[in-house]
Amino acid sequence: MKNPKITRKITQGMYVLTTPEGGCVVDAVSRVSASERPRFAVAVAKKNHSHQLLADGEKFALSIVGEKCDPQMIETFGFKSCKDTDKLATIETETIEGVPVVKDTLGYLVCKKIDAVDCDTHTLYIGEMIEGDVYEDGVPMTYAYYQDHKDDLIKTETEQGKTAWVCKACGYVYYGDEVPDDYKCPLCGLGKEYFEKKV
Ligand SMILES: Cc1cc2nc3c(=O)[nH]c(=O)nc-3n(C[C@H](O)[C@H](O)[C@H](O)COP(=O)(O)O)c2cc1C
Repeated sequence: MKNPKITRKITQGMYVLTTPEGGCVVDAVSRVSASERPRFAVAVAKKNHSHQLLADGEKFALSIVGEKCDPQMIETFGFKSCKDTDKLATIETETIEGVPVVKDTLGYLVCKKIDAVDCDTHTLYIGEMIEGDVYEDGVPMTYAYYQDHKDDLIKTETEQGKTAWVCKACGYVYYGDEVPDDYKCPLCGLGKEYFEKKV
């Protein structure tokens, strides 16, 4: 592939995907139908704990992240796993249709899960919107905005005295002299070329 970074030019938004037990930050969301109850597809990595939560659950919500959101929310939902962190305990939520939605966002949509399509590393969960509301009329954060501003938004802490490589997409830190050629980020699945040496 000549330059896989071209995929970053595909404009996507930033969302907090939630289920009653937890969730994670996602950008891979599309509206895929246009009736009164539109359908939305969200691609969730199989290695994420949220994948299991969606597989087991009947509903999920997407809270739309605004440019002025508290970056802590992205850090909690995007860099930690609900396997070992109670993400919902650290963030203000409101329960709608049995699903917690995040208050510090532009609003939410709640979906009833209607299908799951296998997509290699991810599963595409498709839901029909059953509820939605606007909290605030702010500017939605795009994935491109996140990429351009993430150094200011997210301050990645690394251990002193160790050579650290930070994944430019999600902030995961790899420690070692060199990132192995076949290495894949355990958080977002991207390869060696996405890792930048922390100086
Ligand atoms: C900007 C950004 C975009 C992300 N987009 C997705 C996505 O579309 N799908 C996905 O499965 N994970 C995505 N992630 C990764 C998950 O949010 C992350 O791996 C999270 O820690 C998983 O938590 P969990 O194990 O509790 O599910 C994204 C992370 C960031 C920071």
